[in-house]
Amino acid sequence: MFIKVLGAAAGGGYPQWNCNHPNSRLARTNNKNALARTQSSIAVSADGKKWFVFNASPDLRQQIWNNPELMPSEKDPLRYSPIMGVVLTNADVDHTAGLINLRESQKFSLYGTNRVLDVIGKNSIFNVLNPKFVNRIPIELDNTFKLIDTDNNFSGISIKPFAVPGKVALWLEDESKGKNFGSVEEDTIALEVSNIENKKFFYIPACASIPDWLLEKLNNSELVFFDGTLWEDDEMIKENVGIKTGKRMGHISMSGDEGSIEIFKKIKVKRKIFIHINTTNPSLLENSSERKTTKENGWEIAYDSMEINL
Ligand code: MLT
Ligand code: MN
Repeated sequence: MFIKVLGAAAGGGYPQWNCNHPNSRLARTNNKNALARTQSSIAVSADGKKWFVFNASPDLRQQIWNNPELMPSEKDPLRYSPIMGVVLTNADVDHTAGLINLRESQKFSLYGTNRVLDVIGKNSIFNVLNPKFVNRIPIELDNTFKLIDTDNNFSGISIKPFAVPGKVALWLEDESKGKNFGSVEEDTIALEVSNIENKKFFYIPACASIPDWLLEKLNNSELVFFDGTLWEDDEMIKENVGIKTGKRMGHISMSGDEGSIEIFKKIKVKRKIFIHINTTNPSLLENSSERKTTKENGWEIAYDSMEINL
């Protein structure tokens, strides 16, 4: 199974357009310790030819440009894309807005929970994904489904989606619905992805906490991509660039006694990779002490065009 990181940054990308935090400033100077990153997404393929994109970031057009395997090649028909489908893990702007890049009369499948597909369905801008060509396929929590290519053949990749602690997308929050803003289980899902040889990995770009059942599920796995939004829960407040904590945004932090680094120490995972990393997270910087800590604890920090073969 081939995996390519299309984008490793959280919503807004790194550097974010209006962010003048030192991390973003450094990235703008092309400093080798501050590698710019587009918004979070990966592409997965069983054969290296037909690809499935997990979350459609607003940077998708650039991500296709940066990753030639996602472009039609000389031998392909006049209209063609190796992108056979898109799988959504939530309705966040950084995970759905890129769908409009895939506009007009190109066949592919769009997979998401009923909740997320409903949001897409209610927003008429997504009609640019011509329903005659784009099959919207509802996925059910805890039920394995097969990714199919545009000729309706099994791609060799299966996915078991399951709910993880999280929150409804920021732009869909309903304050009248109380503390969780009307969030339901289907709002934030993780994907357990496997191929026909039963090679498996987990894709979890958003997660608010790590209950024991989740830890057990991830134990002894080969590869986990995990929510790396913030280093510290109140980092945006401390750095004077925002008013929200990670908890408020539905993201667990990397550091601290209740942080992901500490909690993952209880289990064995061969390869652990943080993805969806916010501009303020100091572990973005190659030479930071926080990066050193992630490394010492066996974590990698995803970067754009990172390649993994499982
Ligand atoms: C998130 O991950 O919390 C959202 O992408 C935030 C946002 O939409 O800016
Ligand atoms: Mn996000």
